[in-house]
Amino acid sequence: MTQDELKQAVAKAAVDYIQPKLDSDSIVGVGTGSTANFFIDYLAEIKGSFDGTVASSEASAERLKAHGIPVYDLNSVDSLVVYVDGADETNPALELIKGGGAALTREKIVAAVADEFVCIADGSKWVDVLGNFPLPVEVIPMARSHVARELVKLGGDPVYRQDCVTDNGNVILDVHNMAITNPVETETAINQIVGVVTNGLFASRPADVLLIGRETGVETVRA
Ligand code: 5RP
Repeated sequence: MTQDELKQAVAKAAVDYIQPKLDSDSIVGVGTGSTANFFIDYLAEIKGSFDGTVASSEASAERLKAHGIPVYDLNSVDSLVVYVDGADETNPALELIKGGGAALTREKIVAAVADEFVCIADGSKWVDVLGNFPLPVEVIPMARSHVARELVKLGGDPVYRQDCVTDNGNVILDVHNMAITNPVETETAINQIVGVVTNGLFASRPADVLLIGRETGVETVRA
């Protein structure tokens, strides 16, 4: 199977997984990226069985609306029954690196609100130790150089992501060469740097369930 076919398989599995949890009042949190896009396309097939969605990016909001799926402002909803999103890396504890698509801050906010976080990923995203994928850090533009220097002190090698402005008007530093053996500690330490909006480690709030696509089929993993 190609990587796209594996992404499609987990996206379909996610719709099957969440469908029994939905009713006409349910609001679904929707992530960002190519795997999330497949999820949106399958979600459209059951759009009559829930109220609407909250999106973690403008791009996902546009795709949802194109399918005729209502998209709500997060401030106008009380709760999200579930949040479904992809990842750049996951370890066996379902701690994640996210933000390859620069949507990490809104993704982290939506994940924080959701009752359940379902991560969908093809098998290439599975690692024992996080950090081979450069860790995205969203930064207030005027703090970029300061934050970069602080990230070097933490042992990383930050690279400014060219031509990238987040939905929040900020920039991204991708931190290379960090073996993240204690993800909660690293997530907390980076978030302490003045000028950081947030970083792409989802360790304090990891996924609850991982649907991972392998050649043998979709596996369900719980931390
Ligand atoms: C976007 C993300 C994505 O979930 C992550 O980059 C995975 O993307 P894809 O599904 O395209 O492999 O965190 O900010």
